[in-house]
Amino acid sequence: MTGTPPRRVFVGISGASGAPYAVRLLQSLAAAGCELQLSISESGVLVLRHELELRAESRDEVTAAFLALAAATAEVYAPDDLAAPPASGSSFPDAAVVCPCSVGTAAHIALGTTRTLIHRVGDVALKERRPLVLVPRETPLTQIHLRRLLELAEAGAIVLPAMPGFYSRPQTLQDAVDHVVGKVLSALGFEQTLFPPWDGGRR
Ligand SMILES: Cc1cc2nc3c(=O)[nH]c(=O)nc-3n(C[C@H](O)[C@H](O)[C@H](O)COP(=O)(O)O)c2cc1C
Repeated sequence: MTGTPPRRVFVGISGASGAPYAVRLLQSLAAAGCELQLSISESGVLVLRHELELRAESRDEVTAAFLALAAATAEVYAPDDLAAPPASGSSFPDAAVVCPCSVGTAAHIALGTTRTLIHRVGDVALKERRPLVLVPRETPLTQIHLRRLLELAEAGAIVLPAMPGFYSRPQTLQDAVDHVVGKVLSALGFEQTLFPPWDGGRR
């Protein structure tokens, strides 16, 4: 995806492992001045609480703690709020990202079987030909997962698996996280600075 970076971005967080990716992504988009829309699935709340070791019980507390970690503000929508503005093509944001994206959410978007706002936003992005970046995380992948991901790519989504590269020589886990999030930012049209570009191996 090239051209003007998006100003209004929907971020869906589903229940795949990878909460640190979501933190860094929100942090980066907020720092870039984006207007953020956020929806966290039921499983997404569980995974954020567990992986970020949040001292938070309710959905609202987990969401607040997550946003504080990301130093971000967002318009927050419940997963069953299918009447939220981003659920309609007429008020769709400039881009949508699902990070991390469970294989369950990927399958729902691929099949058009909308159950949550995140599924609906994915569906609308595809039908309206708007930018949609999906960051699936599962291993190993079954033929079923791979078929759904292929269908999504064929329908116009950017399928950007949470697979950090090591050519930028990450020194810390955060460096590895940054590699993936830098790729997401590039896919959205931002000039990312989270990891250095390949220099031909001269470093
Ligand atoms: C701690 C934890 C880690 C999980 N990790 C993954 C994962 O990496 N990938 C995945 O597809 N599902 C993972 N799951 C399972 C999903 O959360 C589950 O399939 C859920 O129904 C997905 O729903 P959602 O897409 O609406 O969030 C995990 C669940 C838990 C509790």
